[in-house]
Amino acid sequence: MTDQFSKSKVALAVTGGIAAYKAIEVLRALQRAGCDVRVAMTRHACEFVTPLTFRALSGSYVIVDDYAPDNPDPIAHITFSQTIDLFVIAPATANTLAKLANGVADDFLTSTYLACTAPVLVAPAMNTTMWQHPATQRNIEKLRNDGVHIIDPDAGEMACGTIGPGRLSEPDRIVSRALEILQRNGPHTSSSTTDDDDLRAERILITAGATREAIDPVRFISNRSSGRTGFALAEVAQRRGAKVVIVAGVTTATPPAEVELVTVNSAEEMHQTVLERASESTVFIAAAAVADYKPKQSAATKIKKSEATLKLELERTADILGEVAARRREGQLLIGFAAETDDVIANAQAKLTSKNLDMIVANDVSRNDIGFDSNDNAVTILVRDGSPPIELPRASKTRIAEQILDEIVKLRQRTKKAKTA
Ligand code: CTP
Repeated sequence: MTDQFSKSKVALAVTGGIAAYKAIEVLRALQRAGCDVRVAMTRHACEFVTPLTFRALSGSYVIVDDYAPDNPDPIAHITFSQTIDLFVIAPATANTLAKLANGVADDFLTSTYLACTAPVLVAPAMNTTMWQHPATQRNIEKLRNDGVHIIDPDAGEMACGTIGPGRLSEPDRIVSRALEILQRNGPHTSSSTTDDDDLRAERILITAGATREAIDPVRFISNRSSGRTGFALAEVAQRRGAKVVIVAGVTTATPPAEVELVTVNSAEEMHQTVLERASESTVFIAAAAVADYKPKQSAATKIKKSEATLKLELERTADILGEVAARRREGQLLIGFAAETDDVIANAQAKLTSKNLDMIVANDVSRNDIGFDSNDNAVTILVRDGSPPIELPRASKTRIAEQILDEIVKLRQRTKKAKTA
């Protein structure tokens, strides 16, 4: 990744909100990817983090006020904006969004935006009520129409104690999106571009998260899946034009805001829901960690600890992916995941064949640094049509999702060609 982005010049603008400190993580991760990053701040941002912090980390003068006597460049907003491949604004306050949407250019950041011909990526962060206000939503809509890339804020507990959408999206999601834009656009030419929609012809059904198998009304068997991988696939696929439905079990990650979501609890509920929805889909991605066994009987009342030992008899759950494969529609692509602790590739290869899949994504769940409960993953993709295995080195789950979807696009192109040949 470092080589790929080593010539990319990114401007990172920080505005005045409590999430300003998270811009430090954005800066560091962009640098780790190889980007050359320069930072600008609004005056209010300096109330939260000092320009010195960003100067020390970026190694460059941080522009707050282009009229400042120590600013080395007299027309900084022009030089700054026209020598970059991407302009990232994170966090962006409601006030900054309003100014950008209306072409107000009363400080360095907003004048740079107007003078900028590179793609612009904006990550808003603010109190939930401010985010949901019609004025803010109008401004977001205007910016989207102007070709600006927006990363919707996450839902969660805010600094002010309220719960709802408004929290700055995770830095690794912002950086993945930034790298995706850089990758798609290559070195910047003068016209601004929007996201590719190479998945627009697809309807993608994705399972995510863990299932819960009831032992009694208060106890269950489950696993550590967070749902992050399925959610990342859904978010990226929808952004690339696909119509996406997620069937999620129990998750700890935040689902993407604008994707249709059906929530279920048990493997059997997931099984029923998937069978109802699978025939509408052109691609099925089974990213859920479905329980393979469930208690043969779930007690109607809470089990009391009367005996020294308790025996639970378990029985197999339905193999959801296997059943979708058995009823496969013409042209439907089926993608599975194989979470393995040993003989990762051989086991995944065996599943690819036995389940009659088009592609399987294998990951080594014995590693602590990736996989379950982690933001990162490293996987190997095996494809049934005999193309060589594709190793995706450790990266954020969003980045891995982008690469898995790239492979799905390639596979679709190969199957279409094979059909017409
Ligand atoms: N899967 C499913 N329904 C199940 C179990 C798994 O759809 N009841 C899907 C998973 O979402 C994943 C793939 O099948 O895409 C995993 O295959 P599986 O053979 O079930 O893997 P493991 O559960 O890891 O199997 P094993 O324990 O035999 O390794």
